[in-house]
Amino acid sequence: MKHVLAAIVTVLALGAMFLVYQSDKEVNKLEEIKKMIAKTEVKVKLDTQTVLQVEPVESLSQVEIEKEQEKKKKELDEKLQALKEKAGNVAAFNVSPLYKQKCASCHGVNGEGIIGPKLIGLSAQKVYQDLVDFKSGARKNYVMYGLLSKMEESQMKELSDEIGSFETKLKEQQ
Ligand code: HEC
Repeated sequence: MKHVLAAIVTVLALGAMFLVYQSDKEVNKLEEIKKMIAKTEVKVKLDTQTVLQVEPVESLSQVEIEKEQEKKKKELDEKLQALKEKAGNVAAFNVSPLYKQKCASCHGVNGEGIIGPKLIGLSAQKVYQDLVDFKSGARKNYVMYGLLSKMEESQMKELSDEIGSFETKLKEQQ
């Protein structure tokens, strides 16, 4: 009889130990899941010139994601640089340094349009109204908004007048 009791007690004790062991494993699993979730959170940096979009990939570590962002930014910079050089080579007429510096990379050195739409042929009034609307946010465009947020009213006017004269200037060249 004593032996039977001892056997039951032993089995119960072993069972209890097993349960404790199992629940420890569950806790560890929870920790693992938390870590995985933390890894997949991606912070996307925005600046005024480039909008990078990185889709969170579950298996990527933070370091790999940052590398990926760095690569995309570099590619974009290189493309922009190439466009700037290309634009510089095909100028039909001279433009102001302000236009060249701020607008030509996207709209072309003579407003012929690259990433941004063609500006040749737009009137000074239309360009000015567009710029005002981009700046105020009435017309939503992240790139143009960022560009104009620090620009003086007088420069916007100057640029509008200049762009308004592009068509005439181009015709004079042909
Ligand atoms: C980084 C690229 C980029 C630069 C630099 C840039 N733009 Fe733009 N611009 C765009 C894009 C993209 C659009 C189209 C936005 C839209 O239609 O919502 C646009 C639209 C415009 C429009 C409206 C044209 C239309 O027909 O609707 C005007 C005007 C304009 N830009 C003028 C300028 C001027 C002036 C500068 C320099 C101060 C400038 N942009 C610099 C990308 C750029």
